[in-house]
Amino acid sequence: MSFRDLGNTCVVGLQWGDEGKGKVVDLLMADFEVVVRYSGGANAGHTVVVGGESFALHQLPSGILREEVTSVITAGTVIDPAVLLGEIASLRARGVRIGDNLRISDRAHLVFPYHRREDLLAEGAAPADQKLGTTGRGIGPCYADKYARHWAIRVCDLYPADRFRDRLAAVVAHKNASLAGVYGLRETFDAARMADEYLAFAEELWPFVCNTTALLHRLGKAGKRMLFEGAQGSLLDVDHGTYPYVTSSSAATGVASGAGVPITACQSTIGVVKAYTTRVGAGPFPTELKDALGETIRQRGHEFGTTTGRPRRCGWFDLVAASYAAMFTGPKCLALMHLDTLTGIDPLKVCVGYRAGGALLEDYPTDIHLLNEVEPVYATLPGWREDLAECRHWGDLPVAARDYVRLMSERLGTPVRMIGVGPSREQMILVGHEV
Ligand code: GDP
Ligand code: IMO
Ligand code: MG
Repeated sequence: MSFRDLGNTCVVGLQWGDEGKGKVVDLLMADFEVVVRYSGGANAGHTVVVGGESFALHQLPSGILREEVTSVITAGTVIDPAVLLGEIASLRARGVRIGDNLRISDRAHLVFPYHRREDLLAEGAAPADQKLGTTGRGIGPCYADKYARHWAIRVCDLYPADRFRDRLAAVVAHKNASLAGVYGLRETFDAARMADEYLAFAEELWPFVCNTTALLHRLGKAGKRMLFEGAQGSLLDVDHGTYPYVTSSSAATGVASGAGVPITACQSTIGVVKAYTTRVGAGPFPTELKDALGETIRQRGHEFGTTTGRPRRCGWFDLVAASYAAMFTGPKCLALMHLDTLTGIDPLKVCVGYRAGGALLEDYPTDIHLLNEVEPVYATLPGWREDLAECRHWGDLPVAARDYVRLMSERLGTPVRMIGVGPSREQMILVGHEV
């Protein structure tokens, strides 16, 4: 089955991240020639399992595993060069060719050690109930500098070396003073050493760096099919997610601004959802299972963060949240992942409404306090006992599993075209009009 009918497509998670976007992108790359990361940074962790080998990608697009594909990291992302270069080196060591198939924007902002430190200091200083549970990768402070502008440094600013050294010296002096003043940090960052380190990174990065806006324009004119790889998830989007328990970028909505393409350049969105819900980090999660069942899902689904190794919080599928996400992402079709993980859980519950103060809410709450207090209204469905790992066709699925998929499709008003039944590339059921 081909996905070319979708045109240029964006893959977006409709939950709180880790929906299985990496696997979906990897599979789709057979039909696309260019893969684009348009937001976020090393906070992402996308797992791709090919031929029994598992690859965890943080900064690099998941399409990097297919060498004929052009992988592009654009202006809307933030780049931690130590992570990116480490990732390139480790993939090369595993036989993945990375050369002129990777392009990095000269406009992307750089993450520095003081960003990572500030991330941790801010988390440490926040009252217990206000910690965000960030990945500690310096994402928030880097985006904050980007938007504040005074202390930001972009990839293009690494050159010429003398100007970079001067700029970094000024920024580091400011950071040392502000981190000492605000958080009482005694240790100071050494600007000269940091400049040496980043100039060494620059040498390695430079062959990949270009104006990716112009590059995507040229590739588009040449008719190359593009896949935009979303990082994080819709409910972590800085504008539309469960603020402030979100990331600092337009994770779901930033394709055009992040990649530097016209809004008409992306014709379709594929919404990726897990058959249940997970969340890593703090924030409201109405359908969370804090009991043994939550633990069962965590163990069966190997629900531990790809980036931080933290146990992911697990809960029932939340149709209210996914419908809200679908509202502002407009998916043409869905990829429903981890259906196999639900085997043996009977009955299954799906949240179909939120109740607050005795009434059903019409819209997804903006107020985080209200979202913390809503009472989920559940539909109950029969489970199934069959192992789904070897299912490859719609008809291979037990009736109860098919009914579960149909419910998602109907309630979200969107056809399911992919069903994940295991982590590896071939453990995917592609469906057409059967659902
Ligand atoms: P991403 O951030 O959205 O790319 O997702 P992650 O890679 O962080 O987390 C998804 C996890 O589930 C990874 O370990 C995948 O290998 C795994 N996975 C993806 N799809 C499936 C599936 O259908 N079934 C199972 N059992 N695992 C899956
Ligand atoms: P992928 O692309 C799941 C979460 C963090 C935290 C919040 C803010 O793998 O789906 P940040 O470090 O971004 O400031 O953290 O966002 N978070 C993710 N959760 N998957 C991700 O990425 C995430 N990226 C950030 O856990 O709650
Ligand atoms: Mg992930």
